[in-house]
Amino acid sequence: MSVTSTATSLDLPVVDWLDPAELARDPYPSYRRLRAEAPVAWSPAVRKVLISSFEGCSVGERHPEIFSSNVAGGTMVRALGGRPLIRKDDPDHAAERAPMNRALRPKQIMDVWAEKFEANARRHLDRMLASGNGTADLNTDYAVPVAARNLCDMVGMSGVDPTDLARWSKDFIAGTGNVLDRQDIWDRCDRSRAECDAALDETIARLRRRPDASITSMLLEGGMDEDKVRNNVKLTISGGMNEPQHMVTNMVRLLERSPAQKAEVLSDAGLWKQVFGEAVRYFSPIGMVTRQTAAAVELHGATIPEGTQVGMILASANRDAARFTDPDVFNIHRPAGTNLAFGSGVHQCAGKWAVQKAIGEIAVPLLYRELPGLQLDPSRTETWDGWVFRGLTSLPVTW
Ligand code: HEM
Repeated sequence: MSVTSTATSLDLPVVDWLDPAELARDPYPSYRRLRAEAPVAWSPAVRKVLISSFEGCSVGERHPEIFSSNVAGGTMVRALGGRPLIRKDDPDHAAERAPMNRALRPKQIMDVWAEKFEANARRHLDRMLASGNGTADLNTDYAVPVAARNLCDMVGMSGVDPTDLARWSKDFIAGTGNVLDRQDIWDRCDRSRAECDAALDETIARLRRRPDASITSMLLEGGMDEDKVRNNVKLTISGGMNEPQHMVTNMVRLLERSPAQKAEVLSDAGLWKQVFGEAVRYFSPIGMVTRQTAAAVELHGATIPEGTQVGMILASANRDAARFTDPDVFNIHRPAGTNLAFGSGVHQCAGKWAVQKAIGEIAVPLLYRELPGLQLDPSRTETWDGWVFRGLTSLPVTW
């Protein structure tokens, strides 16, 4: 990589064949073609310069002084009603990230959250068993309620109905992805934001009186302005729900199609962390993160001008053969922690340890412990959606 001092005109390969509808069906063939033909390219359909190689995305993640998070305008700021830390650079970002880390570091996960994650997973497994008649949709009947209730607890909103929180999260994400500026999406998003803000009125007042270990409480304790607290809690609600939910179904889907590896982890519980780490590489729930160049930069022989919006396709980077042997093979014995599913550098996911514990070590292992006959239901089809945020919208199972 080299940084040039003058901006150039947009003189980059153009990938006019790239089709967002096709990406939502199955993005991986298009990602393979992007990496092979143009790992840095302008996409008229996405209206961004796309970086699809592992090397390119790593450079972007590790050079925030060039790949700035302070993206101009943008749907996320509109959706959440303000700019959260993921859309800021240091030192502003670091000041807001520090109190969030206090709520989510590994010791807090062990001391505070693990017990709640266990109780939540148990509660929703029992409900699924009571109503399921030996069959369920693992997404709606288990993954969604477990992820929503865990998140209610982590943001200090245990009194909120998890169904409401799940809906807010969905609407914030739809708003963040509303690049076509559809009014019906803004209407839904605005309604959910108003409901979430009303719940935050109560939550913030309570936590000021009686602080606890939640993310919201830690943000308040740090003396942060209330507007910033709200922006960051809404970011956490939008980002902390979908991806853990998708990891429940991704892990089960992958294990069920890899019987030998499933047998291994069922006889050695120490392997669950590796199953989680490989599943998050193989089906990365966050497909792309956005940056804006603060200087012209040369990458893979192409020059991206200053002020360009860039999409770093982490899900593609995680299937790059230049980085991973047999990248399209699910292999739990790969070296841990080498992929970009959680980003890397200063914006690396704040909830990484929480989700690894909540889903990778608690919710999915519990399923297999309690339901030894768990299997995919061959009589019903699974469905997927999305590419910027991608996951199973239905995973029929039986036991
Ligand atoms: C499997 C589940 C998850 C995945 C794959 C995931 C992935 C990511 C990614 C890719 C980023 C952006 C990194 C970048 O821009 O460089 C991110 C940021 C973030 N995530 Fe997660 N995430 C997950 C779960 C969670 C959970 C459960 C929470 C909170 C409880 C959370 C909170 C955050 C926050 C606050 C940020 C912004 C960090 C910053 O800008 O400093 N995430 N996550």
